Amino acid sequence: MRNALLAAACAASAIIPAAVAWPGMEATLENLQKRDDLKSADCRESQELIGDLNWLPDYALSPVGSLVKGVILGRVSGESHEIYHDVPPLRSYACAANTCCVWWYIVDEMERLFRGPGGRCTNAARGAIRLGFHDAAGWSKYTGQFGGADGSIVLAPKELSRPLNAGLKEIVQQMRVWYDKWGHYGITMADLIQMGATVATVVCPLGPRIRSFVGRVDSYAPCPDGLLPSEESDADTLVELFRAKTIQPHGLAALLGAHSTSRQRFVNPSRFGDSQDSTPGVWDTLFYNETLGSAPPRVFKFRSDIVLSQDPRLFDEFRAFSDPNGGQEHWNQDYAREYVRLSLLGVYNINNLTDCTWVLPQARNEVAVDMWVNTTENILEVAGALRAGGLITGLVELTRPLVNKAKDASSA
Ligand code: HEM
Repeated sequence: MRNALLAAACAASAIIPAAVAWPGMEATLENLQKRDDLKSADCRESQELIGDLNWLPDYALSPVGSLVKGVILGRVSGESHEIYHDVPPLRSYACAANTCCVWWYIVDEMERLFRGPGGRCTNAARGAIRLGFHDAAGWSKYTGQFGGADGSIVLAPKELSRPLNAGLKEIVQQMRVWYDKWGHYGITMADLIQMGATVATVVCPLGPRIRSFVGRVDSYAPCPDGLLPSEESDADTLVELFRAKTIQPHGLAALLGAHSTSRQRFVNPSRFGDSQDSTPGVWDTLFYNETLGSAPPRVFKFRSDIVLSQDPRLFDEFRAFSDPNGGQEHWNQDYAREYVRLSLLGVYNINNLTDCTWVLPQARNEVAVDMWVNTTENILEVAGALRAGGLITGLVELTRPLVNKAKDASSA
């Protein structure tokens, strides 16, 4: 109940500027809004319901509807480590009867592209994370039931020609390749894009394993223009832009951390490929430390990240995420929760979606053990490291060929 009241209060304060009625009132309201933001930590958390969850009463919610509502309200974790071992062969009745089964095979292909030989996530993974954001972010509560996570960033070519989508050409092309191969299994482009983003995230070492749903509806119409953030915008503009997507400042602070893996190419072409923290391709919290403080010369900080990190509405979360004691876990939890919200913006059939989280790869810190227990041949190095309580993530590559062999045998 407290959450529902807070959501209503925060939502009401967020829409006040739309009702501006006399000269000077806008500035007054803006100041009041900022003062409230600073005063009330609760209004910096995203609590607002989205899609069909807005009008469905609790008794009408399906298990997935309740689960998503729980994540959005912060009652249930946005991460899950649920796995499933006995995946039926792709071309079997058992697989056809299970909505998630084909996704297990698609995800396997994505994983191979997203993980580099050194274990870090690749350019394709970075592209997939950004693509998931740019498809879903083409929605605002002021533009009606239009846009959002609907696949239009690939299906409506006009979107890709917009300047703020520069850099997404290769991953869009890859999505088309996957859609051509897997589309006849009845999947949608909207799901392919969002699954790509969550697979890429968990493939990055230390990345969260975000709950992943399928059943979104595709759209061939370009989303409304002007809904994506610019690197040149000031903090107020960016905070309002995300508020209109139901994402409050703390949620924005968590989502921005995706720049922990990123490498810019188009903001400053003379520094093509420079990363936004000193560990590109690793989902660690150095992005928060280095955006707030100093960073090695090769790190290229976005102006938008700097102004947001210093804004009083986001600063405390930046500090909390950068804390070596628990910051990583805190960030992963918050990111997962906000990404579940983001991945469902503009989706009005949330109650009918299917939870396919179990098809995701294991989170990287557990992946070696999971792979090891799934191989039939014993790997002495892994067994020895486990016995001694040693580091095992470096041994993943020893187990991978054996697991791939087992998977190939089951899909033949
Ligand atoms: C204030 C909000 C944001 C702004 C202004 C912003 C801006 C940018 C810019 C300018 C780039 C570099 C593009 C290039 O030159 O290649 C970039 C890259 C990236 N962004 Fe953001 N971004 C924002 C939020 C987000 C969010 C919320 C996510 C994910 C949830 C995200 C994920 C990424 C990723 C993964 C890349 C790297 C892409 C690559 O390396 O190919 N960004 N962003």
